[in-house]
Amino acid sequence: MTLPSRPGLDSIPAYRQGRAAPAGASKLSSNESPHPPLPSVVHAVQQRLSALNRYPRMNAPEIIGRLAERYDVDAAQVTVGAGSVELAAQLIHAVAGEGDEVIFAWRSFEAYPSLVRIAGAVPVEVPLDGDHRHDLHAMLAAITPRTRLVFVCNPNNPTGTVVGAAELERFVAAVPRDVLVVIDEAYVHFDRTDYFAGAHRGAGIELFRRFPHVAVLHTFSKAYGLAGLRIGYAIAPVDIADRQRKVAVPFGVTDLAQAAAVASLDAEAELAERVDEVVAQRERLLTVLQDAGWPAVPSEANFVWVPAGDRAVELDDLLQAGGVVARTFPGEGVRISAGSEPDIDRVAHAVAPALTAAREEAHA
Ligand SMILES: Cc1ncc(COP(=O)(O)O)c(C=O)c1O
Repeated sequence: MTLPSRPGLDSIPAYRQGRAAPAGASKLSSNESPHPPLPSVVHAVQQRLSALNRYPRMNAPEIIGRLAERYDVDAAQVTVGAGSVELAAQLIHAVAGEGDEVIFAWRSFEAYPSLVRIAGAVPVEVPLDGDHRHDLHAMLAAITPRTRLVFVCNPNNPTGTVVGAAELERFVAAVPRDVLVVIDEAYVHFDRTDYFAGAHRGAGIELFRRFPHVAVLHTFSKAYGLAGLRIGYAIAPVDIADRQRKVAVPFGVTDLAQAAAVASLDAEAELAERVDEVVAQRERLLTVLQDAGWPAVPSEANFVWVPAGDRAVELDDLLQAGGVVARTFPGEGVRISAGSEPDIDRVAHAVAPALTAAREEAHA
């Protein structure tokens, strides 16, 4: 069958998932939690299995109620989606149409440029600064009368760098009020700077309270370990949240995902311990890479970025040979997720076989 191609679609690449790992290898390519789901979460999901013949509750009352209470916001300001990637798409569709501009740092979350193009809008990529951080001055300077939305990915994927709360507040204050600032905090729970610690839940929500043109994205995929169930949430001004509800794909968030999210909020103390473990492995990963001479960047997320440039494929080859699957951007760098302790042991062996052998001998 020959159908005429949809204008613009040919230039949009399909989303590239983190590579699958062969049996027995460490899959560190998708920033997933290395921990299996908590028994209480599995139990909550199992309880819903007998109702699979029913559609999910589209207004997700329980989880939205819990989130509204937790953040002390109006339930009408909270929306859930099939992962925060769906909410990012909703927010773009809510404010940007044909020819409008959406600004984000680059490199950042790979889905942003495609989601913007799918909406018919124009992606405006502002290069990260020399320290792999958002260049907020350049992002501000990139705003034009056609700009409708600016993403700030904090911590940034794939570099793991953060914009501080005060710096972000100055930025938000300077952005015109008819441009929506979307603060994507998918990795905020792994942040050990004041940005997270000061507000105990990410600074984005505080900025949402103080400014009329801020929305925040959070996900249950990373710190809560529910990547396979697909649920995230946005907190946005009511008029924007109302528009999101119009552009959302109906029934996108299953009842299983809603129940798992509620059970996860009930288990936050347990999950926080797991997050601390991942943070400890992230720090080990950084040291292992730097000790082996790779230019790894300190990270506040659950992964470490190695801007290896021309040597990215070489590093990827070493990792693969050592049974580690990472996310590689040839010519730019390699992003390695902070997995379990044995996963990071593997990375250590892979990047510095001589070094680790010598250490093991010294310990023997
Ligand atoms: C910065 C950022 N935002 C959003 C997402 C989407 O995550 P999910 O759709 O699983 O919530 C990701 C996933 O990798 C991400 O890196």
